[in-house]
Amino acid sequence: MDERLVSSEADSHESVFEQSLRPRNLNQYIGQEKVKDNLRIFIDAAKMREEALDHVLLYGPPGLGKTTLAAIVANEMGVEIRTTSGPAIERPGDLAAILTALEPGDVLFIDEIHRLHRSIEEVLYPAMEDFCLDIVIGKGPSARSVRLDLPPFTLVGATTRVGLLTAPLRDRFGVLSRLEYYNQGDLSDIVMRTSDLFEITIEKSAAFEIARRSRGTPRIANRLLKRVRDFAQVLGNSCISEEIAKDALERLQVDRLGLDDVDHKLLLAMIEKFRGGPVGIDTISATIGEESHTIEDVYEPYLLQIGFIQRTPRGRVITPLVYEHFQMEVPKYD
Ligand SMILES: Nc1ncnc2c1ncn2[C@@H]1O[C@H](COP(=O)(O)OP(=O)(O)O)[C@@H](O)[C@H]1O
Ligand SMILES: [Mg+2]
Repeated sequence: MDERLVSSEADSHESVFEQSLRPRNLNQYIGQEKVKDNLRIFIDAAKMREEALDHVLLYGPPGLGKTTLAAIVANEMGVEIRTTSGPAIERPGDLAAILTALEPGDVLFIDEIHRLHRSIEEVLYPAMEDFCLDIVIGKGPSARSVRLDLPPFTLVGATTRVGLLTAPLRDRFGVLSRLEYYNQGDLSDIVMRTSDLFEITIEKSAAFEIARRSRGTPRIANRLLKRVRDFAQVLGNSCISEEIAKDALERLQVDRLGLDDVDHKLLLAMIEKFRGGPVGIDTISATIGEESHTIEDVYEPYLLQIGFIQRTPRGRVITPLVYEHFQMEVPKYD
């Protein structure tokens, strides 16, 4: 499944490649205007007051630019960033070690912050609120608590599942920014920008063709561009034309809405076996041989987003858009 071309998660080999494509400042960061405007104001104000920026929570689906934005925040503030993730912090002592090593104003980036252990969250509260750390030394009756002062810092948290955050943690962020799926114009700008970095030429219409199939997600756009570039190179073309892009994407089996064979299998099973629904997630799961939580977390979000599937209390339902997409007549069941 990690080989899936239109997956919005980065696969294990992709991080170095992605690192090289990351915009470094807000001006290079394409789209998400509301989020950028908001951050600009907070960053400018914090700089004017010569204070650490308020804590920032970035949330939204994978591949939309949360990690990128965390690094940009640090860069714009002119401070260092220290990166960790919810599951990587196993004991309160791990977090204490990270916090005490920060310089004034630094950014601490905690990715997948919804996976932070409760006992660690509790250490984080006073750190976020008062820049201090309560550490318990010793065990049993002789245990005592020591309060350590921390340098003022900015916590940037990122999550794909904001609903899983506890209220006390969420409430301690001063800036909450929700990243949205990108429109095709912004995505094709991203494809053009990445082409520049790759030092390849690409027709605008070819960039648009890639953008259209990228599921609103920059990570997928960059990945598709990379594969299309390989096709062009093998064909001995120095420029990616619309024709080459279309041909390559067709061969990669990514259709004109960015759906791949797994999406097709799921949608067609719902039509052919269940009359378009409603059908329960576990039944779909058994029919197509994918785990139900994989369907819910990986396949379904985009299909819901583009209005191909609806969730109802009785199960999932196909919408008329699907029949249109497959150029099928909407069947009349009695
Ligand atoms: N607004 C943007 N402009 C240009 N490139 C972007 C933008 N957002 C994301 N990217 C690119 O998409 C890739 C994935 O972004 P990332 O920050 O890792 O997403 P997330 O952390 O939300 O999963 C990165 O390589 C980055 O270069
Ligand atoms: Mg990330």
